[in-house]
Amino acid sequence: MSSSLMAASVPLLPTVMRFCCDALAWTLRLLRGHASAKETHAFVFTHCIHGNPTSVLATFDIYAETHVTFAIGAQTGQALDEVGRHMRPSRVLELGTYLGYSSVILLRLLPPFGRLVTVEKDSKVANLAEEIILVAGFKDPQFQVLTGKSSKIIPTLHSFLGTGPRTSDTFHMVLMDHNPRLYLVDLQALEDQNLLCPTGCTIVLILRNPKKKFLEKLYDWMDERRDFYRIKSQLHGIIEIFYQSNN
Ligand SMILES: C[S@@+](CC[C@H](N)C(=O)[O-])C[C@H]1O[C@@H](n2cnc3c(N)ncnc32)[C@H](O)[C@@H]1O
Repeated sequence: MSSSLMAASVPLLPTVMRFCCDALAWTLRLLRGHASAKETHAFVFTHCIHGNPTSVLATFDIYAETHVTFAIGAQTGQALDEVGRHMRPSRVLELGTYLGYSSVILLRLLPPFGRLVTVEKDSKVANLAEEIILVAGFKDPQFQVLTGKSSKIIPTLHSFLGTGPRTSDTFHMVLMDHNPRLYLVDLQALEDQNLLCPTGCTIVLILRNPKKKFLEKLYDWMDERRDFYRIKSQLHGIIEIFYQSNN
């Protein structure tokens, strides 16, 4: 009787072991709480293969198995990657850099002449992010980390886009992962400043348990402006919006 029970439970062993590992990782994350930006940066810096963006992202993911971090992580990262591959943007704006996890995903999508401008309000975190992006192998003209609050930086963005033959002063893609309370006002400011590409701009909003009322406000506003804005998808914690003013 006991040997037949054992034989029946053998196929379940991998599932049980996976469950135990997940439970252990979850307990560790709970006990350790939020990892500091400095600790996360130190782990990624020392364990990743320098010059290899995929290794940088994988090292963040390994750290996130046992620590709580602000990075968007593998699943949302993959959804962002898919949106970007479809859009093929060459000028991207990111609000909320943190340590540069999503910046590395965005930079991987850019053509050689492409450009990422990323905004982080915390200057110490912004410096750490810049180091991670350089460690991933991206060079200075491909990206710029701007330090300051989005509300202060947005009105200055035209001056960071340049006017060379292959540049223009609007963005093809905007990623917002800074503060859901600011998503609507910052989107309005970007449109007011003519920073969204009129022939098409994808706006990706990362949702981390946002208050329902912020989303309702955003949806109501977009509904009033449905000639310009269209929600394309809402998957894996991201909302993908398409903006076009040259119809
Ligand atoms: C959730 S984290 C971003 C995570 C990042 N996208 C990643 O995947 O690694 C949010 C970041 O936005 C920054 N932030 C919050 N409000 C901001 C604002 N108004 N302007 C610029 N950065 C802001 C925070 O300091 C924090 O580093």
